[in-house]
Amino acid sequence: MKLNSMNKIIKHTQPIRGMKDIPPLQYDLFQRVVDSASKIARRYCFENFATPILEYSSVFDRTLGETSDVVNKEMYSFVDRSGQGVTLRPELTAGIMRAVLSEGLIQNLPLKFFSYGPLFRYDRPQAGRQRQFHQVNFEIIGEESYSVDVEAIKIGYDIVKDLAISDITIEINSLGCADSRVIYQQKLVEYFARYESELSEDSKLRLYKNPMRIFDSKDDRDKILASGAPRISAFYTKLASSRFEKILLMLNELSVPYQVNELLVRGLDYYCHTAFEYSTNAIGAQTAIGGGGRYDGLARIMGSKSDIPSIGLALGIERIMLLLKDQESYNKAHLGIFPISELEINASYLIASKLRDLDIPINLYEKGKLGKRIERAISKGCNYAAFLGENELIRNEFKLKNLITGEECMLSYDDLLKTIREQFAC
Ligand code: HAM
Repeated sequence: MKLNSMNKIIKHTQPIRGMKDIPPLQYDLFQRVVDSASKIARRYCFENFATPILEYSSVFDRTLGETSDVVNKEMYSFVDRSGQGVTLRPELTAGIMRAVLSEGLIQNLPLKFFSYGPLFRYDRPQAGRQRQFHQVNFEIIGEESYSVDVEAIKIGYDIVKDLAISDITIEINSLGCADSRVIYQQKLVEYFARYESELSEDSKLRLYKNPMRIFDSKDDRDKILASGAPRISAFYTKLASSRFEKILLMLNELSVPYQVNELLVRGLDYYCHTAFEYSTNAIGAQTAIGGGGRYDGLARIMGSKSDIPSIGLALGIERIMLLLKDQESYNKAHLGIFPISELEINASYLIASKLRDLDIPINLYEKGKLGKRIERAISKGCNYAAFLGENELIRNEFKLKNLITGEECMLSYDDLLKTIREQFAC
């Protein structure tokens, strides 16, 4: 019996490779990104939407593209206890479109959904690349106007600005419409086939299935060959090129800086027309902090009778956190209540409870030497301290100390309440 329970002791004291805990200081940065994105989502009238983390595998493997790395190499897929193939979501877009179709929301188009949460991709972990990571994500579903493409690009730009992140480049491309892409892909196959033996093994596999994916290769020889490849702009229909021009013009009018990059194809196959990425050189090899694009054909792949013109974007929270790491941490200001001895503990809890009901952030510091307690409180962001000793209890008073300026005063409960409510604006 004893041996059995000893065998059950958990051996692993580290998280799974590529998956990270988010301890408090890191979580401040995490929350800062989520708060900024939520604020911008409200500004653009997005509604919040959450989908399950686990979906049937077909939601992703039929939609993201069989030649995409995400589907080929990175999905966390397994068979559940009922024999169903399921996948931990590697991205949010396909799950949201699944939900729009399965919830019958198609009657209410256009829709604007904001989401955030964890995603899973089994890639080689490195700085800025994790197997569990998080995104903030925006989808505009059922709207074909070029102006929403501008809106999508601007949303990411607004978040980056709101977080005071500098040196971000916005790269944009148009992948044209489905018809022009078919002709373009044929030209690309003809071009790359001439160099087939020089291509990387991955790109050889992509060549006949989806040659545009070769533009995404990190292999140096592939990159040189890609730079000499025919450009998609030569194959745009009139409609596709005028749409792209209008988008660029409107971005100019809004003073959103961008660069057109005709080799930008993005890592997922559902995109058409506008594709864009936000990139930086400040976090090592992983340059993309976010990206998105139009995915008019995704709904049809998922069973809709017709296309649903849609566009969206996602920003990688961890990559943005790397850019925020030198910024000051989240506001943790609070009132600390310090019972001087054990006799004041109950009274301190009662007061804390009353003040918390008024939305005042309170923490109790009740154990240890007073000096050490104050040090600990300051390190946790405590800016006001209320001391409660025997005398204070008898006189129904508190000693309030501003821990930043060192000022102190004796206050009645009502005056304490008044002062603290002013300080914490509640
Ligand atoms: P994505 O480009 O695959 O797009 O991912 C968006 C962002 O998520 C990336 O730019 C990056 O910042 C972050 N990211 C991706 N993989 C990892 C990883 N392994 N570790 C850390 N961060 C990562 C999408 O997911 C699309 N669903 C975006 C979209 C929304 N398109 C239309 N609507």
